[in-house]
Amino acid sequence: MHVVTQFLPAQEVAADWLIAGLWEDEPFAGAVAALDAGMDRQLTRLRERGDVSGKAKETTPIYEPRSLAAKRLLLLGLGPRAKIDPAALFTAGAVAARAVTTKAHQRLAFVLPDAGTNLDAESVATILGAGLQHGSEGAGLRKTKPDRFAPNEICLVADSGADRNAIERGARRAEIEGRAVGLARELVNLPPCDLFPESFADRARNVSKQTGIECIVLDERDLAAERMNALLAVARGSDRPPRLVVLRYRGRPTGPTLGLVGKGVTFDSGGLSLKTTEQMVDMKCDMAGAAAVLGAVQALAEAKAPVNVVGVMALVENLPSGKAMKLGDVLHARNGKTIEVLNTDAEGRLILADALAYTVDQKVDHVVDLATLTGACIVALGMDVAGIMTNDDAWSGRLQAAAKAAGEKLWPLPMDPHYAEMIKSDVADMKNTGGSRWAGAISAAKMLEEFVGDTPWAHLDIAGPAWAEKDNAVRSAGGTGFGVRTLVELGRRYG
Ligand code: BES
Ligand code: MN
Ligand code: ZN
Repeated sequence: MHVVTQFLPAQEVAADWLIAGLWEDEPFAGAVAALDAGMDRQLTRLRERGDVSGKAKETTPIYEPRSLAAKRLLLLGLGPRAKIDPAALFTAGAVAARAVTTKAHQRLAFVLPDAGTNLDAESVATILGAGLQHGSEGAGLRKTKPDRFAPNEICLVADSGADRNAIERGARRAEIEGRAVGLARELVNLPPCDLFPESFADRARNVSKQTGIECIVLDERDLAAERMNALLAVARGSDRPPRLVVLRYRGRPTGPTLGLVGKGVTFDSGGLSLKTTEQMVDMKCDMAGAAAVLGAVQALAEAKAPVNVVGVMALVENLPSGKAMKLGDVLHARNGKTIEVLNTDAEGRLILADALAYTVDQKVDHVVDLATLTGACIVALGMDVAGIMTNDDAWSGRLQAAAKAAGEKLWPLPMDPHYAEMIKSDVADMKNTGGSRWAGAISAAKMLEEFVGDTPWAHLDIAGPAWAEKDNAVRSAGGTGFGVRTLVELGRRYG
């Protein structure tokens, strides 16, 4: 999808759909007032009769609108202007696109709203453009008759007095970020018969070729040479070999390096601690952290952001077999620490243990990991908010600020030292479960903390927001691409 700009009166914009946002608590102004005047005050009449209110997520289609160059007009409620923020704006773009992309159209145009002092023009263009792309894409990758049609072109419209440079920068960012989120969603939505460690690594290699960045893929022999025994123990249950992908993007000659680590369990059956069908049915989503890292590195490289990034994706399948790890096994992780396996379904922390230790060994200055790590995090925070856990509050604060600007929701969970008692083992340095259902997201994070040394680290448990069980007004069911835009924002600010 291309995101382009046009600077002219909205009435003159040729498009299959022209989308115009209405504030709930204000009279029409600017481009919308001009549209209304051009349409013999049809919009005023609709509002006076109560047919449109401007309430957030309200959509009203007008077919064959009088005296507009566009074929159709969609009125989109933006809610009260004082409440507009990145999350609400992203939602607005996605809702509008979902309302008009159930049929095939070439070109959508969006009249950029004036968000006042809440958001600058570049952010408005970036976030709306990304939201429009988000709402245009569905999960039906393998449907012979598609039920959603992405347009070829999304046009951001502003009048000739607008800050053209800012809006053009925003359109370019929107196109890049939209593509990166789309990549992450596609990878999550692909069936596990097609997406497994080797095929994921091939996709990463393609990204590296297309963006001209360095890519190393470690196979099972390299992983053994690198002493990644915890990751290898998880992988042993599957006939499909594991991979560890390392992408390096150098956007500036000097400065600190940001490490991004993603959990890439391409299917999580639980292993010998087998899940039930109901628990297993969506477990192709268990590589969403790795997909977010790949998307973010792609976007930062395409945008030529001045930042140095190492992206590490730990790719395995977690299956039961005659070779699978057993309860009671003790693993020797890369950093020398020993882990007693008491539940093979707590596999994410085992692969991340080695991947995090490997990443801090690459001399990164800060590290973030993303993982669909625990059902307990969903119990704590629900489906729309990721948990953030850290060994460094200042670093976590930077990540939270980036998430806020991107419109993605994170909430901190405590990491006080006493939680470490939950993972004490009788036979090894630690065990891989907290031993009780309480604070399960935190006991998992306490284990990860053992593998990052002194490097400032933050862990995002994205088990809830990475995957949508059902369609809603904002997005289709399936992979959401959660985390990509937060990481891109973090990368833009990093340095
Ligand atoms: N991949 C799951 C976590 C998960 C659950 C992600 C639901 C998305 C939706 C993870 O590997 C897992 O199985 N965690 C266990 C840990 C437990 C055995 C300590 C869990 O959360 O039940
Ligand atoms: Mn599991
Ligand atoms: Zn898992």
